[in-house]
Amino acid sequence: MRARVVPGRVIGGRARVPGDKSIAHRWLILAAAARGVSRLSHLPPALDVRSTAQCLARLCPRARPSLEGWIAKAGGSGERHGFTWDATPKEDLVSELVVEGEGRTALVPASGSLDCGNSGTTMRLLAGLLASAPFTSRLTGDGSLVRRPMDRVAEPLRLMGADVRTTDDHAPIVIRGGRLRGIRFRIPVPSAQVKGAILLAALAAEGETTLTEAAPTRDHTERVLAALGAPLDAREGVVTIGPFAHGPLEGAVPGDVSSAAFLVAAAALTGGAVTIEGVGLNPTRTHFLDVMERMGIRTRARSMGEVMGEPVGDLDVLPCDGLLGTTVGERELPLVIDEVPVLAALACHARGDTSFQGAGELRLKESDRLGGIAEGIRALGGDAGVDGDDLVVGGSGLRGGIAHARGDHRMAMALTVAALAATGPSEVEGTEWAEISFPGFLDTLRSLGAEIEG
Ligand code: S3P
Repeated sequence: MRARVVPGRVIGGRARVPGDKSIAHRWLILAAAARGVSRLSHLPPALDVRSTAQCLARLCPRARPSLEGWIAKAGGSGERHGFTWDATPKEDLVSELVVEGEGRTALVPASGSLDCGNSGTTMRLLAGLLASAPFTSRLTGDGSLVRRPMDRVAEPLRLMGADVRTTDDHAPIVIRGGRLRGIRFRIPVPSAQVKGAILLAALAAEGETTLTEAAPTRDHTERVLAALGAPLDAREGVVTIGPFAHGPLEGAVPGDVSSAAFLVAAAALTGGAVTIEGVGLNPTRTHFLDVMERMGIRTRARSMGEVMGEPVGDLDVLPCDGLLGTTVGERELPLVIDEVPVLAALACHARGDTSFQGAGELRLKESDRLGGIAEGIRALGGDAGVDGDDLVVGGSGLRGGIAHARGDHRMAMALTVAALAATGPSEVEGTEWAEISFPGFLDTLRSLGAEIEG
């Protein structure tokens, strides 16, 4: 789908965003593997989350009817890009799931491969879950996912005792699970997916597992496990966990702050004020707000409490009267890994250059975001380039043009937002990809005042 973005409108008002994708994957997996009845609400109908639910439905017989019912309500499985723009009904922003699990030992082998679609989190976290399951599972995904590295998760799971085979570092991953032992492991590339997979495996291992992170990453797995009562200690980049059979979960998934980032940027670029309600405020996810503050955007987070260990609140964005370039250093990069595209969208309208240093991991996301962002900004008439592993965006403004999402949800949304402040109209090809994480993205922008056709 091609969207035509007409600049010149002020984006402002109140909005909600779909539930957090990262949290939803974890809560769904833990709910399906729990013993007892879990009640989850505000699950996002995002395609990635549907992929997780679809895989779990095939592994957990007792949970299958309710998972399949939720997937149908959320708009179907969207298998293999068969999705259409209007596949997602809006009322699913509040979709609820009551799911009964029989414990992790009740998992059954799926017939055929488990299709993780476009979702790296689905594939890597499920690898951790299946590492203890005494049967063979095969995980595969779409054309983007099968190009992403998988040995980073396979290696620690092998050390724990699982038989995990990748195809030259890539999916399909074939796992024969079994008895696991705890490990001491330093995760070489900062990755919450790898950390999450090892923690899920560690719950079913003999003895303690201790993980050290090279740099901090999102801590959703640690928070929900601690809320469930797991014997977990997390401090200063070291997480220790012992074996634990957990009970059911209950709570509303906080709004996805990474989705909110696009609305924050849209308001800031057009001089508007916006409030995003009920959004996750986990500090391992909100670092982009610090970067935005350095760029001149003032926001105020009003905390409303915690759900399953996750802080939630409203986020106000105050009108912004000009942006400044900044430098995002290598160590802070893992904390804004998903927000680089939207920060780059801001950067091309800032005074001065912005550089994202040591951003090579971006090449391994849903698309090569390092090259893709630079190319997209240039296609919209701006100035950006890649220097080694650094992305450098010139603050020269955008004239407007035609840019491509390259089958990447965050690219689709970042290019659309960048185009809102161009001097001329733009077209963004592939905006349907926003369904991966932010169903209803264009409608939400329109409801805040954007003029977007298509
Ligand atoms: C995620 C972790 C990050 C992030 C992804 C979601 C998660 O990936 O980019 O969108 O939910 O754990 P890495 O762990 O590969 O950095």
